[in-house]
Amino acid sequence: MAGIKDVAARAGVSVATVSRALNDHPSVSAQARARVLRAVDELGYRPNAVARSLRTDQTRTLGLVTSDLLNPYFTELARSVEEQARALGYSVIIGNADERPELQDHYIRTLLDRRIDGLLMAPIEGGSPLIPAAAREGVPMVFVDRWIAGIDVPVVRADGRAAVRDLVAHIYELGHRRLAIIGGPALTTTGRERVDAFRAALAEYGLELPETYVGQGNFQAESGRRATERFLDLAQPPEVVFAADNLMALGALDALRARGLRVPRDIALAAFDDIAWFIHTDPPITAIAQPTGELGHAAVRALVERIAGRPAPSVTLPARLVVRRSCGERSDS
Ligand code: HPA
Repeated sequence: MAGIKDVAARAGVSVATVSRALNDHPSVSAQARARVLRAVDELGYRPNAVARSLRTDQTRTLGLVTSDLLNPYFTELARSVEEQARALGYSVIIGNADERPELQDHYIRTLLDRRIDGLLMAPIEGGSPLIPAAAREGVPMVFVDRWIAGIDVPVVRADGRAAVRDLVAHIYELGHRRLAIIGGPALTTTGRERVDAFRAALAEYGLELPETYVGQGNFQAESGRRATERFLDLAQPPEVVFAADNLMALGALDALRARGLRVPRDIALAAFDDIAWFIHTDPPITAIAQPTGELGHAAVRALVERIAGRPAPSVTLPARLVVRRSCGERSDS
């Protein structure tokens, strides 16, 4: 296999110039770079990333430990992380924790063993001594979407409170007074925050959130179905079900249909997180949309700052309400 010396000989430049040309160093003329790239093509040369890592002590690789890749929100987030990382010259290794603390630990350990340059996480709390330990050791880290209090790591997230208030206002205007929520795991900030925001928004309208109207979900579809069945078995079922993520909303929709209920005529439904196919469901689902792509980009930029040893501030972007038809008439799209 051709080596860097062969490329240098064919291009008629020094080995150092080949190296600089391949790393887009500004000191290399456009002409020399073109000759190097032609020689690389002709010889089928592949730079040895392992050798470079040993030399530079950098792998140009980021780790992303995501909570559930089957959740379209996290799929979109992973896509935007990958996109921004590529633009900045990094590859991404993804670990899917599947909402399980032991898998989260497994991936953190594996990624650190592989000497990633930095770690992005949407963490589950509770199980993992590795997270505070890595932060203490100075591993560059950024939390995205979810975070853990007390660990000094920048957080890139959306604030859904105003959008939840807008949702409750919309539902209230439609005349509904009995509102229920399917929450996420208590071991996640997103699980707790969405219930808190909902309760606070109801209070502004003088409405209460009884415990029977708080379903315990795990952000996956089956839990949305079960929580909805429990609501429907109550002596006085809610008039509205708000699912704290998109998968639980789909599970809820299944449960409502299985009981022969029509949305929104018999019961209203709304979701946190907007996903592409919410416009294709019957009815299209009213949802709180996060700026997911921007969050992924901002998280990578923050992590690359941390890798360079610079401070990176936390970033909070607003979420927004997208009204469709699943709560009643009035629709944005
Ligand atoms: N879980 C599920 N869906 C989500 C989350 C989460 O933590 N954050 C945004 N969408």
